[in-house]
Amino acid sequence: MSIIKQAIITAGVAFSFLLVGCQNSGPSEGTSNSTNDNSEKGVPSGSQDSTLPLEETEYGRGAESDGEDTNAQEEPTRIISDDANSIIIYFSRSGNTQNLARMIYNEAGGDMLELTVANPYPSDYEQAVERADNERDNQEYPEINTDIPDLSQYDTVYLGYQTWSMTLSNPMISFLMDHGSNFSGKTIYPFSTNAGYGEGDTIERIKELTPDASVATSFSIQDEELLDNQDKVNTWLNDN
Ligand SMILES: Cc1cc2nc3c(=O)[nH]c(=O)nc-3n(C[C@H](O)[C@H](O)[C@H](O)COP(=O)(O)O)c2cc1C
Repeated sequence: MSIIKQAIITAGVAFSFLLVGCQNSGPSEGTSNSTNDNSEKGVPSGSQDSTLPLEETEYGRGAESDGEDTNAQEEPTRIISDDANSIIIYFSRSGNTQNLARMIYNEAGGDMLELTVANPYPSDYEQAVERADNERDNQEYPEINTDIPDLSQYDTVYLGYQTWSMTLSNPMISFLMDHGSNFSGKTIYPFSTNAGYGEGDTIERIKELTPDASVATSFSIQDEELLDNQDKVNTWLNDN
């Protein structure tokens, strides 16, 4: 099965299965799954000839980013083939959702696209919260500067984001406002990380922004617990 890799993930900042702890004042909610409909999951057909490394991250409230979202040391992930019928599309400010996206990719394969914003969020957590709140209050969501490929070949979209103010993070809102109408006939599998408060109303927002798609069982996990729970990721992938 041929595959065109448009981007190579560099290993410069990869530290497998190593987390640096930071403050986390959220409740220990753990992994949560929610079933939103009974759509059949498409079996990913994209071939996979490598695994992507998991990276050191900060997590929880107060987590700093590198100020370039996840991309200070590497190009945004972009793996686009001719024949995959599934794609993982995600945004990650401080790396946790990227790790979950990679855990999904390493298990399920398919194509993969990391979204980035033209003006990255500040590394400082409070400043990032302030900016996000202002954007949401003013309904001025960030510009996505990722070249979005033709999505028509994909039946299944794994959509990755993080809970911000108990709703969908602003970059994912931007992406779905621009492209959600192109999800007709596709099945979306939402996945997310959070600081312990769960996925909020993110599924409802996704359904609003992708009215012609099926939104299937989601997977959301507290960032602090992510790397210990590949088995839960696999169960979600295999059982839904
Ligand atoms: C602006 C902002 C708002 C957040 N709001 C919430 C929230 O409402 N509930 C929650 O559980 N976590 C919240 N978090 C924490 C993130 O959801 C969590 O750390 C997530 O794993 C970050 O993912 P990322 O590293 O992929 O960016 C927030 C983080 C930021 C930066």
